[in-house]
Amino acid sequence: MKKNGVISFLVVLSFALCFSNCINPMPIDLSTPFSSAHATPTPRAFGALAVQRGINLGNALDAPTPGEWGVSIQPCYFEAIRSAGFDSVRLPVRFSAHAAKSPPYTLDPTFVALVDETLQPALAAGLIVILDLHHYEEIMDDPAGQRQRFLAIWQQLAGHYQGAPENLYFEILNEPVKHLDAAAWNDLIAEVVPLIRLSNPQRVLIIGGADYNSISALDALQLPDDDRLVVTFHFYEPFKFTHQGAGWVQGSHEWNGTTWNGTDADKRLIEEHLDRAVAWSAQRQVPLLMGEFGSIITADPASRQRWTAFVARQAEKRNIPWLYWQFCSDFGVYDCQQQSWDTGLLQALIP
Ligand code: BGC
Repeated sequence: MKKNGVISFLVVLSFALCFSNCINPMPIDLSTPFSSAHATPTPRAFGALAVQRGINLGNALDAPTPGEWGVSIQPCYFEAIRSAGFDSVRLPVRFSAHAAKSPPYTLDPTFVALVDETLQPALAAGLIVILDLHHYEEIMDDPAGQRQRFLAIWQQLAGHYQGAPENLYFEILNEPVKHLDAAAWNDLIAEVVPLIRLSNPQRVLIIGGADYNSISALDALQLPDDDRLVVTFHFYEPFKFTHQGAGWVQGSHEWNGTTWNGTDADKRLIEEHLDRAVAWSAQRQVPLLMGEFGSIITADPASRQRWTAFVARQAEKRNIPWLYWQFCSDFGVYDCQQQSWDTGLLQALIP
């Protein structure tokens, strides 16, 4: 009885501390390892990657400044995500906007504290968290000029999170593109993976191919000999359906009104893409993850549901774990203002 009372007190105290931290982020010393006091370390069998169905918390910490794109992650979202049946979240973070421009490229401790405060309730809710270096635009324009900075950012993050529970995974870089082509990307991978491994020998690392993490770029991907790597790809086919009217895709308003009807030809196109990814994975003996797939919120809802259900089931049929892009905002399945799910789309994801 007494023991239970003490445990309850400690649980309440740790949540109170977490919430007060969320309100007043304190600068932290980056040499202080991430505290996993609020996390639930669950043993994970890597052979069957623990992620099955997840969701991306996009447009929050990947915005140029936190909150600038209208999404601020609240601890209660993680309970909603967990209760809806998801087991994982991907947290895109624009660390490059919070690292000094000159050596030693120090990360802003206040921003890292905000990331910690965001992660802690997700880990405490029992979710797998994929920490993803997102929107590093400078490295796409100048891979050679950003090389040392990229490595310094990962060295700091790897040191900071080395004591975090094993259900924190690292994703090295979202969607290499432009000058960060396959050759330049392979060079960076060869350097950054051993660097992270110095402090995180066991942590699951996620890496995608060049060309926006496309399936077609997988063939050119070179990976170090490391049995705790997972390869991600992003899936938005047909692009004219998923990205109709997307503000960041030039000319996409001309695709407005594109539906996805699920004809045999529509389905075959998707199956062929996924089969190609599976064939690559079987040949290279590396587990796969569909780290992003989704459609824009302005597309016709019935088409979105059909497409989402079809892609998700086809991925599952091939044992490809997936993470939907995204929780709320422009491809969303949740209304953060109303705190309610788009139930039709949620059911398409998790029947
Ligand atoms: C980008 C987002 C975009 C999404 C779909 C993501 O990788 O970071 O900005 O909304 O892909 O295009």
